[in-house]
Amino acid sequence: MMNESKQYYKKISPTIWQNWVESHSEIFSRHLEALSRCMEGLKAKFAIDIGCGYGRLIPFLSDKAEELVEVDVSTKSLKNTREITSKFRHKTFFVAGDANSLSFLDGSFQLVVCYEVFIHIENSGMALSEMRRVMADNGVLILSTTIFRNRFSRLLCRIFLPLLGYKRYSGGYKGKNKPFMKWFTKNEFLNLLSSHKFSLRVKTFESATLHPALFSSIIVECRKSGVNRIGSD
Ligand SMILES: C[S@@+](CC[C@H](N)C(=O)[O-])C[C@H]1O[C@@H](n2cnc3c(N)ncnc32)[C@H](O)[C@@H]1O
Repeated sequence: MMNESKQYYKKISPTIWQNWVESHSEIFSRHLEALSRCMEGLKAKFAIDIGCGYGRLIPFLSDKAEELVEVDVSTKSLKNTREITSKFRHKTFFVAGDANSLSFLDGSFQLVVCYEVFIHIENSGMALSEMRRVMADNGVLILSTTIFRNRFSRLLCRIFLPLLGYKRYSGGYKGKNKPFMKWFTKNEFLNLLSSHKFSLRVKTFESATLHPALFSSIIVECRKSGVNRIGSD
């Protein structure tokens, strides 16, 4: 099946998301504060930022890791990111790639980040398996996404999005010239993560990208459960 979300992101201008973030800078700085609290004291040898966009996390992540790999399906976006973040180039590598099939060896990264990307990934189970695979046994995955605030918001979307021209497919929604979007309720999202054998620490807060009456944002700190962490407490 052709992945329409990937096609959309490969085609669009890399600055669309950047302009959006810049016009919502106040709320995004609150998100970054929350992210920073999640990663307090963390020092990784290798980190990966999956769906890195224009690399807004690079200044922040380069403090947390000796070497950083920035991955995105959009080569346009990666090219732009390389230019605007050139001062971090000594420790940052840019790789065109898909969250559903990461071209890295098992257990390569102590820190895996997937920030505001998950709703655009059609096969979320496959992407989670890949994230878990490339993560070191003592590593951490930081995942942020937008979720339905409650069941009522899901019901409203079911009723109103089709009226606004969105079609339902792969369990998500797709509008004309808009990316694919798939939201979960908090419980569904946490159950999905747990089914991939992660133990979780969760923080929920106001949505930055969609109406806060209907949506929330969630940051989840995921660690592999059921692995024998030699040398860890
Ligand atoms: C909303 S932007 C978020 C960018 C960045 N993480 C940030 O927070 O600024 C979503 C990004 O995910 C990328 N993306 C979408 N689907 C992807 C996939 N299957 N694999 C890797 N990247 C993907 C898009 O190209 C886009 O740059």
